Parts: sequence; C-alpha cells; structure tokens
Amino acid sequence: MVESKFIRNIAAMKILIKNIGQLWGVLPPDHGPLRGKEMSELPYLDQAWLAIEDGLIADYGAMADWPGISDWRDLEVLDAEGRFVLPTWCDSHTHLVYAASRAGEFEDRIRGLTYQEIAAKGGGILNSAAKLAQMSEDQLFEDALRRMDDLLSFGTGAVEIKSGYGLDTANELKMLRVIRRLRDAHPILVKSTFLGAHAYPAAYKSNPAGYIDLLINEMIPEVGRQQLADYIDVFCEENYFSCDDTARILEAGAAYGLIPKIHVNQFTISGGVRVGVDHGALTVDHLEVLDAADIAALQSGTTMPVALPGCSFFIGIPYTPARQLMDAGLPLVLATDYNPGSCPSGNMNFVMALACTQMKMTPAEALAAGTINGAHAMQVEQWTGSMTVGKRADFIITKPVQTLAEIPYYFGHENIDSVYLNGEKKI
Ligand code: NIG
Ligand code: FE
Repeated sequence: MVESKFIRNIAAMKILIKNIGQLWGVLPPDHGPLRGKEMSELPYLDQAWLAIEDGLIADYGAMADWPGISDWRDLEVLDAEGRFVLPTWCDSHTHLVYAASRAGEFEDRIRGLTYQEIAAKGGGILNSAAKLAQMSEDQLFEDALRRMDDLLSFGTGAVEIKSGYGLDTANELKMLRVIRRLRDAHPILVKSTFLGAHAYPAAYKSNPAGYIDLLINEMIPEVGRQQLADYIDVFCEENYFSCDDTARILEAGAAYGLIPKIHVNQFTISGGVRVGVDHGALTVDHLEVLDAADIAALQSGTTMPVALPGCSFFIGIPYTPARQLMDAGLPLVLATDYNPGSCPSGNMNFVMALACTQMKMTPAEALAAGTINGAHAMQVEQWTGSMTVGKRADFIITKPVQTLAEIPYYFGHENIDSVYLNGEKKI
C-alpha cells in the first residue's frame, strides 16, 4: 500500500531502513502481553522496510509495497541487506547496582558448596551488603553505569533495577538514588524496585521481627515519601521472608503506591505465588519449583510469571517449567536476574538461548517473552517492547542470519550488528 503515513510525512523522515530480512514483533498499538499459544505467533514481516521519525516508529511495510520516495530531504536511507530487525530486550528483573563480584563464592560452589550453604554461612546477599555499605554512592553509580553500557551492547532497551544490598535505611536509599541517577543518565529506560526485604541483615539475625518493623515503619515510608521506587519486592522463601511477612510488607508498600513484584518459589513451594496474585503483584519471579495450585493462582489473576534461566544455569537449580506455564495460557516473561550471586550476566541473548535449549521454548516464544511481555512486566509497553507505530524506535539490527532460530542457535556469539534507542544508533 503506497498510501500511508510514511508517504505523507516523507519530508520529515529521519531514517528509512530497507531490505530487512525479517522485521520481528510487529504489533498494533495498545497490544497486551502475548499469552500461551499466542507467544509462538509473535508477528513478523518478511522482506520489510521500517521508517523512523523523530525517534519514533513512523511506519513499516513489505518491500513489495516499497513506496516511491518523492522527497529525499533530511532522509537517511539504510540498507539492512537482509539482516533481521528485532525489538530491543526488556529485562524486567535485575540487581545490577552492587559493589563487588562474588567470584570467591563461585569457586566455593565449584568445590561443592550450594548457594544456600554459602548464604547460611553469612555469605551471599549479606556478603554483597557488607561490600555495598563500604562503597560511595558515586562509585556505585559509575560501576553500574558501565554495566548499563554492557546491557546496551547486548541489545537491551529497558531494564528494571532492584535495591536489596543495603538492608538498612541509609544504604537502601543510597541504592535507590543510584538507580534514579542511572535512569536520568542512561538512554536505556529504567524502572526501580525497593527490595529491602531481600535478607535479614546481620544486626537483626536474632530479631527478624525487628527488621520487618524497620521495613514497615521506617524504610517503606521513606522510600514512598521520596518517590524513589516504582515497585516493592520481597524474597518470599524458606529462611528469608514467610508468606505472612510478605503479605504485611506488600500491604505496607501499597499504602505508598508501590506495586508488588516478588521473588518466590526459587527453592521451595510456599504458597507465595497466591500471596502475590492476591496482592495484585505485577509479576512473580523465579518459579523454578511450581505446583498445580500456583498455576491455578496465576490463571485466576493478572500477575505475570517471570522465568530467570540464567540463575538456574549459574547455580544449578531446576529451570522454570516454561511449557507448563504457556500451556496454561499464561503470559510468560524472560529476564536475566543480573546480580553478583546467582546470575552475573545481563545478556538477554544468552537467556534466549537457555530458554530454547533448556526450557524448550521456540525462538519466537522466547523473543515474545523478552520483549513485549518483558515490557508489560515493567509497565514500559507504552514506549517500547514491539515494532509498533508511535512507540520509540528501539531495535536491534542482527548480523546476517537466515532465520530467527540462528540467534539462540549461535549461542555465545555476537549476533548483534547495531542497536538503536529512540531512533539513535547507540552501538
Ligand atoms: O534473584 N534470590 C534472591 N535474590 C537474587 C540473588 C541475590 C544474590 O545472591 O545476591 C536472585 O537470585
Ligand atoms: Fe532476583
């Protein structure tokens, strides 16, 4: 069709990309997350063109309907030469503000200790908290900014970042201020989550109830007053926060408009999925272990399940039963969980490869889970997550490939040629 917005506004066009082998994630405006079977039907166009104006997606179509260009002023034409164009990744679960690697614990695990045994000895999250307390806010910011640059090179266009290595009021606020600075300084879209309930700090080891009081009476009100977070998270797990603790903390957060996104069912089935759904959680994340009641709870509400296969890979725990969740008609999400303990990688391309090889997701399902569904899992779907007219022009141009499957197939390879955010070439 030659009669299109593209033709009418041709003089104002900034970029026109032609000869795209496949243009993935073409969805109409206001599209919801893809659920169950729909995920395998993520729409794409063969042999396509894409037009970008003022940083936004202006139009797209098939090369067979290539519009005649009457006015070349201010128009940059790029030839994709058959490369694919994909929406940038939306990574809805990370802990990328941290002070130090935990490579020592990695070696301990290689020698046979488990993640939980290391935590029980005072390592794990408490190790990260001790290091973070020693690091200045500026240094934390500089280090995290470099990690964001890495994410950009992997093709990530939106990221959620959690606190949770502060574990006292001053250091939790310090982390959240760093996340706000990252949001203001970096072209990647950022959402912020308060995860004060990540572990009991050493000072409250024999007084866990006292820490919950501190969370509810001091930390949450302060985070709320300073509007430092979009979401509230709790590590709902044996030896961490119980279902009752989780409910109380989420209710305290709700009083300040903080929407829940919780860690649950990483090691044990606890009933925490139901707590999340009943509290209107946007997402429940991990779900490496899951039972029929958890799936029924998810089917009864709007909470989205988030799988973190990088964590399963790195600490050697089961993979989230993705096919079961999709067979139940649920809108499955994939994210990295980028953090120094259970997944020191923020590479969504590797997550896609794990989803395909270990969780038996098709490449289209994995792409849907990490783009449009990821966007909904952090409420940025209005701006990004699909190739939709009016959204930001956030996309990846791949290296030459024949099929989408070649991206996870060549796992560990650099499959990305360039990355555009808001219509600007960043990589
Ligand atoms: O999502 N499980 C809880 N939190 C993180 C790990 C945090 C850490 O080990 O530093 C996770 O796996
Ligand atoms: Fe996590």
